[in-house]
Amino acid sequence: MTNREKFFAELEKKLAPHYGPPNYSAGNDIDHIRRVIQIAESARGIDLNHNRVLDFDSDELRAAALLHEMDRSKSLGKRVLRSGKKWAKNHLSQGEFLNEKALRKIGIRQMVLYYLRGSGFSTEAKTRIVNAVIEHPKFADDLENDSGVLIALRIGDKIDRMGPLGLISAAAHRGGSASLYDFNHPFGYGSTEEGRLKTIYDDHFRVFEWYAMLPCNAARRLAKPRFLIRIFFMRELAKEIASASGVKNRVEEDLRKALGMYYEEFCSE
Ligand SMILES: [Fe+2]
Repeated sequence: MTNREKFFAELEKKLAPHYGPPNYSAGNDIDHIRRVIQIAESARGIDLNHNRVLDFDSDELRAAALLHEMDRSKSLGKRVLRSGKKWAKNHLSQGEFLNEKALRKIGIRQMVLYYLRGSGFSTEAKTRIVNAVIEHPKFADDLENDSGVLIALRIGDKIDRMGPLGLISAAAHRGGSASLYDFNHPFGYGSTEEGRLKTIYDDHFRVFEWYAMLPCNAARRLAKPRFLIRIFFMRELAKEIASASGVKNRVEEDLRKALGMYYEEFCSE
């Protein structure tokens, strides 16, 4: 076993208890991370349309994927904030103030660097990994400036949520905070912003919106087999909800809204 392999085996062992119940929902466990890596690796070499093909170092991707959920795990999330506050106490002058979001970003950086101790990564590689972990939830890719590892992580993380495992992960993840659907107004989905989601039906549309957000057509081609299953599932789910609630089935309007210009690819007529 090489030193790098030993490092990864130990890192997985350290992180596994923080991912998955009771510290994080099922679906955000170490297996999600393994699938993200697998999908991101399968995206290597795709054309990003900016005179650039997707390329990255596999070990950097592995480290970024292993660490990308740390802020959202209950146990690690607490440490992230503590670490950000500690840094602020030691580096900011009196009167300087950072909000929780900024403190968390600093905390993530500190914690990632902590977990990368002994990894043998260069300073540049560590910077790319820290950046990928911090930036992976951002809204849009910057295909000219984002590192390959960040783009690959974002592709893997999104596509893993699109297929059957993604469908059950959404229910597992929101099960404690959202109802399945709104009995009186099940269709016409509302905000897909995290924290404002009221139903798991709406959460599914958050993922439907990601199809257009994938960085290029080649990434969409990778996602399509999972997406076809998702669309089929959603149409069947909507039939059941419409029948149970006694309201008109308006799922196609919701799909059209979420998929935008890509709706025609999945048109049922
Ligand atoms: Fe993730």
